[in-house]
Amino acid sequence: ACRSNPTSSGRTLIMTRSVFLAATLLVVSVYAQTRDVPVAMGNLGVHYNLRSVISTDAHPLTAAATGPIWCQATLNEIPLPIVTSNFVRYSDPQRRKFSPDVNHTMHKASLEVGQTVHDSMGKYRCEIVIKENEEYEKTIFGNLMVYSSPFFHTNGSMNMKIEDEHNKNSVTADTVYATEGAEMVIHCPAVGYPKPSINWYMNDDLLVASERVRISSNGTQLIIDNFAQTDAGTYSCVATNKYPTRLDLDFKDHEATLRQAVRIGSPYGWIYPLLVILVILLLLFIIIYACTACKRFQHDNYNVAKREKLLRTPSPASSAASTKKYELVQSA
Ligand SMILES: *[C@@H]1O[C@H](CO)[C@@H](O)[C@H](O)[C@H]1NC(C)=O
Ligand SMILES: *[C@@H]1O[C@H](CO)[C@@H](O)[C@H](O)[C@H]1NC(C)=O
Ligand SMILES: *[C@@H]1O[C@H](CO)[C@@H](O)[C@H](O)[C@H]1NC(C)=O
Repeated sequence: ACRSNPTSSGRTLIMTRSVFLAATLLVVSVYAQTRDVPVAMGNLGVHYNLRSVISTDAHPLTAAATGPIWCQATLNEIPLPIVTSNFVRYSDPQRRKFSPDVNHTMHKASLEVGQTVHDSMGKYRCEIVIKENEEYEKTIFGNLMVYSSPFFHTNGSMNMKIEDEHNKNSVTADTVYATEGAEMVIHCPAVGYPKPSINWYMNDDLLVASERVRISSNGTQLIIDNFAQTDAGTYSCVATNKYPTRLDLDFKDHEATLRQAVRIGSPYGWIYPLLVILVILLLLFIIIYACTACKRFQHDNYNVAKREKLLRTPSPASSAASTKKYELVQSA
């Protein structure tokens, strides 16, 4: 008689939970409808339309955002006068502050974000100070997103170029050289907002981490231990992030690819064959020169008939010097 029925008690529990959840939702929605608390309203997000995916410290990628980010404080959907306002860039270690333009007619604070994508994209917090009553001020907060599809930003250490004018999201970096048997680190300096996730491919096959192949937690580094001849090939990293390009649109995938060939050897590998060729050429030149000199010498020494003729009857072509020499020998 004491045995409980697990099925019925489970059902009761689910029913109790559902009722509780419904009650909570009701309370929350009633509260939301009747609450007289100021809230922040705004355009949630803008994004950059990139024309390239290559960015360096010296030549950072620039683009125009789809518009300013703006926000206002509202009470029951009616905008409230702004006392002061600020935008803070969250993605910044220093939490840079920006002063927005305030339209006191529309009670709107708007900020044109910078054109340098690398240090302008990210999450911004809008802070609006309003008068709560005659005595007190209140600050209202709201978050705004400045999205960017993935791109590659370096200090200039990696030379990248577009492979195909029709696909500006795909770039190739210079060949990287690995030492056989050593650890090899391949970099994928992908950035973007939201922070892109990275997949690595070798010769178009997805790479998975193994004992010898590691991928750093943020995906930007591929580490291969004991690099072997069979590891040489083309490595690509595909950086992907998701964001809506319009408020009413679903999140869309955005992608950028960086390809780099990895070979065993040194970047100056071509210098050794060149040196060998130069040395061979030099030797050939020396041999040819030596042979010519040698031949002329032999010719002069062994053409006895000509020499005798020269000695006995100096031809009119023979020089005065050789004639003098002959006379000198005779008088001695
Ligand atoms: C405020 O916004 C309204 C509507 O967009 C515009 O007509 C007005 O000129 C703006 N005022 C200022 C001071 O910018
Ligand atoms: C760029 O960064 C790499 C490491 O990522 C470093 O080895 C190199 O010295 C840096 N180059 C310059 C010019 O700062
Ligand atoms: C990713 O991780 C590596 C090493 O774990 C670090 O050096 C690098 O700065 C990180 N990059 C980003 C964008 O977080």
